[in-house]
Amino acid sequence: MKPTVLESPAEMQRLARSLRAAGTTIGFVPTMGFLHEGHLSLARAARRENGVVVLSIFVNPTQFGPAEDFGAYPRDLEADLSAAESAGVDYVFHPQPADMYPSRQLTWVTVEELTDGLCGASRPGHFRGVTTVVAKLLNLVQPMRAYFGEKDFQQLVVIEQMVRELNFDVAVVRCPLVREPDGLAMSSRNAYLSAAERKAALVLYRALQRAQERVRGGCKDPVRLRREVVECLSGEPLAEIEYAEFVDSRDLQPTGAVDEHARLLLAVRLGDTRLIDNALLKG
Ligand code: PAJ
Repeated sequence: MKPTVLESPAEMQRLARSLRAAGTTIGFVPTMGFLHEGHLSLARAARRENGVVVLSIFVNPTQFGPAEDFGAYPRDLEADLSAAESAGVDYVFHPQPADMYPSRQLTWVTVEELTDGLCGASRPGHFRGVTTVVAKLLNLVQPMRAYFGEKDFQQLVVIEQMVRELNFDVAVVRCPLVREPDGLAMSSRNAYLSAAERKAALVLYRALQRAQERVRGGCKDPVRLRREVVECLSGEPLAEIEYAEFVDSRDLQPTGAVDEHARLLLAVRLGDTRLIDNALLKG
């Protein structure tokens, strides 16, 4: 069955209240749409674990900088509804910006420190927009479980911190990163890539794999590993490195030594497109 589409936040909240009153568990998958297998893996996990699955599609203006791609962000509601149906989604919440932000927003949710570095450094205000919209969505959908992908690893850690510290009554469920068959991390933004950039984009996966092999081979020195990763990324003339950092998965702080918590986080620009990727580095 095609999912039921709700556009009004008030209607979404009424539905959530009646589902909860009836004892139905709500699994929630927040997205910005243009759905791919990464999103759908979250929806399928939600399908397995809850009575009802709600997926939101909202290209959130407050998480885009003035020079970023809010206007150009790919949108295709009809294709998204078919994809959502195939993953067993019951309700698609699809509000308009004016419904989510009816007046000038004076209330913001900010997670400190964790948002200073990595993507936060190059995208000022981005995480404030993410945490604010996710807080609003959680209040509207009132899920028992909310599903987020490890593709956006910093976002995941920031949201977990917010949920804990603001006592949201929801379990954040971590879902593994889904890749294309050739290794490129799935992303709605991959649609921006030219054929040459699409080929060049594989350098992120190659760099992650190289680092993983070196760690398996016994190299635990993040300074040395980072130098090799930068060298690998620099070998691709179309790629411009934004960051390549070895961090502790728990607090996103730089790792002194590569242990079982170490994760390599990458952000690279290919032309106008910014791609991120990451992997845990198992010894
Ligand atoms: P969006 O980029 O659409 O991603 C929605 C969810 O899908 C996020 O939790 C993201 O981590 C997950 N996801 C995306 N690509 C994935 C992949 N290849 N493998 C696994 N999971 C993947 O992230 C956002 O939207 C927004 O910031 C949002 C949280 C919805 C707030 O506006």
